[in-house]
Amino acid sequence: MTACNKLLTVHNLGMRFGGIQALAEVDFSIAAGSISALIGPNGAGKTTVFNCITGFYPPSTGSMQLALEGRSQDLGQLLSSPLFGGSHRIARIGIARTFQNIRLFREMTVLENLLVAQHHQLNHNLLAGFFRTRAYRSAEHAAIDNAIGWLEVVGLRDCANRLAGTLPYGHQRRLEIARAMCTKPRLICLDEPAAGLNPHETEELAALIRQLRQEHAATVLLIEHDMGLVMGISDHIVVLDHGKVIAMGTAQAVASSPAVILAYLGVDESQNTEASV
Ligand SMILES: Nc1ncnc2c1ncn2[C@@H]1O[C@H](COP(=O)(O)OP(=O)(O)OP(=O)(O)O)[C@@H](O)[C@H]1O
Ligand SMILES: [Mg+2]
Repeated sequence: MTACNKLLTVHNLGMRFGGIQALAEVDFSIAAGSISALIGPNGAGKTTVFNCITGFYPPSTGSMQLALEGRSQDLGQLLSSPLFGGSHRIARIGIARTFQNIRLFREMTVLENLLVAQHHQLNHNLLAGFFRTRAYRSAEHAAIDNAIGWLEVVGLRDCANRLAGTLPYGHQRRLEIARAMCTKPRLICLDEPAAGLNPHETEELAALIRQLRQEHAATVLLIEHDMGLVMGISDHIVVLDHGKVIAMGTAQAVASSPAVILAYLGVDESQNTEASV
């Protein structure tokens, strides 16, 4: 991976919660345009990495670099810059995420969920909103068109006016992806998008993730326990265990790594050469 095609570089990332060292000395890079996966046993620190990248927690140590307009910039500084102020800071920087436990506005319609996500792209001028100027109305129409377009991509166009909380679980997962993509991110972080899906829905999810990369120029970073999905779609896999990176590389390299087999199965690989993660 050359310096110029790295979209995100995480260096020496550490995160401590009181007495728990959730992450320590975590180093990895994500190539622009790739589908990368962050895997590891429960409690390995995967979601904590997402929480650092997306500004939910300031890391205890380390740095995160994001390639922005052709230049590598300090993500920690961007996240605290007044230029990207407010709760939509991360979307303005070009990163979006979904959550391990779905976080939709359940009492809002499907369409409204996507409009709220784009709020930061609308004209914030109060007077413009109050008088509904031409520029404000045009931005509103663009947001609705964008939302409908994404509902079509994820197969939820017919559900636009339903309350989000009434959708079947698999549809809610797709709506979360549409909501994240609505903000036109360059990096989308998906936290266990296949959790709770049946095998058919998981196959559809794999196709959707490929589509995000191929047709919408998104770089995808995926946390997932479904190894069939991870191995099938990932260009690059980073494996965490107890807050540390224990392996990284292609699916094949990671699946045959003794450290990974030990972390997942708790056995010495020399006694179980058939095992795979
Ligand atoms: N806000 C927090 N306060 C205290 N401890 C936390 C917090 N967030 C995470 N942890 C701890 O950090 C460690 C890593 O948690 P994390 O949620 O990142 O794991 P994970 O790899 O995402 O696990 P899973 O596969 O179960 O989702 C765990 O020991 C967890 O209890
Ligand atoms: Mg997690």
